[in-house]
Amino acid sequence: MSPKLVELEIDDLAFDGKSVGRLDGKVVFCKGGLPGERVLAEITRSKPRYNQAVVREILRPSELRIPARCSHVNICGGCTWQDLAYEQQLIFKKDQVRQCLERIGKLEDVTVHDVVGSPDQFTYRNKMEFSFNAAEDSGFTLGLHERGRWDRVFDLEHCYLASDVVNDITHWLRRYVAEKGLSVYNVGAHTGYMRFVVFREGKNTGQVLVNVVTNYGEFPEPDALVGGLTEAFPQIVTIVHNQNGQKSNIATGEIERVLYGSGYVEERLEEFTFRIRANSFFQTNSRQAEQLYRIGFDMLELRGDEHVLDLYCGTGSIGILASARCGRVTGVELVPDAVAAARENAAINNITNAVFYEGDVKDLLNRLSGDDTESEVVIVDPPRAGLHPKALKRLLGLAPPRLLYISCNPATFARDAATLRQHGYQLPEVRPVDMFPHTMHIELVSMLYR
Ligand SMILES: C[S@@+](CC[C@H](N)C(=O)[O-])C[C@H]1O[C@@H](n2cnc3c(N)ncnc32)[C@H](O)[C@@H]1O
Repeated sequence: MSPKLVELEIDDLAFDGKSVGRLDGKVVFCKGGLPGERVLAEITRSKPRYNQAVVREILRPSELRIPARCSHVNICGGCTWQDLAYEQQLIFKKDQVRQCLERIGKLEDVTVHDVVGSPDQFTYRNKMEFSFNAAEDSGFTLGLHERGRWDRVFDLEHCYLASDVVNDITHWLRRYVAEKGLSVYNVGAHTGYMRFVVFREGKNTGQVLVNVVTNYGEFPEPDALVGGLTEAFPQIVTIVHNQNGQKSNIATGEIERVLYGSGYVEERLEEFTFRIRANSFFQTNSRQAEQLYRIGFDMLELRGDEHVLDLYCGTGSIGILASARCGRVTGVELVPDAVAAARENAAINNITNAVFYEGDVKDLLNRLSGDDTESEVVIVDPPRAGLHPKALKRLLGLAPPRLLYISCNPATFARDAATLRQHGYQLPEVRPVDMFPHTMHIELVSMLYR
């Protein structure tokens, strides 16, 4: 069947980064295309209320369109908006926050400030994950997944979100694997050895961790890998090997062995040092994370003697930065490794006024003593799903006078903020912060008062 090609005027961008046009009055969500453009699009799916399409040709480009730096922009699943001027990305992100507040939360009167742009628009990522994939001709690719394709990996020339050294190490590894004749994983057949390479980088320290993730089995000739890498790249302070024999295509391992160095890199935020290991969570854009937290602390106007409850605290970065600005901190986090890292990070910074508990916020808030939960100031930084209804109920029970909500999903934020408002909280303003230039992801900070 020949593809159905249609001409469309693009007039908006949707929440997930797709562009929006109309065909006979019905909305069409398109991959590709920018507002103000006329495009030739192929309809890929027709639903009763909307169509889905892929833009095949730009017939009249938008004035907002700029040449993308990256040669992979048309196939890479990473960046959606490299061909949209950065200032325009921020304008669209602000508009999407406003739309979420209005449509989902009915919060029309909340001031949405301009989005705080990232200090670095490129090379901002401190974590990169590249996949190996065996090709049919016995060759292989090493790079990123093609957009929407779990089974296809293109050979990376250069990723501009990663630093030069990360790109250079990736090329070095590709040559090393080919020269040594190491077998490469085939996702469909679940055969082959080399699966991923993951980088963690201290952007403020210059340290690099290389994590080679393979199928089961000890790494062959580890000394050759370590010697070659460390000689070529003095920025590498540690190399680890993770083994993952599971079919699920994730770059974490079941067995980890440190091949060289300490197993972690150090990152600095303000005057504090954080240890980041192969699989620890850490905000991906270090320099913008500092800004994000500072904006939050400015909104909180801490006096210096408060007890701050840091819910969904991850590896403790907010709580540790807050510890210098308040009386004491209590953190709560679900993932045991993250809690261990938060405790370690507190210890290496000689912080004695912060404790971190492991557990689910919705359960732990019931079980902890009043001394741990009674707090004038609560910070929540939940995952994309937002606050679980039970967690929200417990929070309303605690009724903190000041609640700082950091969100990576304006839709769930709008839902939760509407509930909080129904229970007596005011939220005058929201400040979006761009942690991920060229992608559709939006982070925001908001202060709620009782
Ligand atoms: C967006 S991250 C925030 C991390 C941290 N605040 C930071 O800035 O680095 C959300 C964190 O919530 C944790 N989490 C997810 N569900 C949770 C739950 N039900 N209870 C406690 N923590 C949870 C995740 O493991 C993750 O570390």
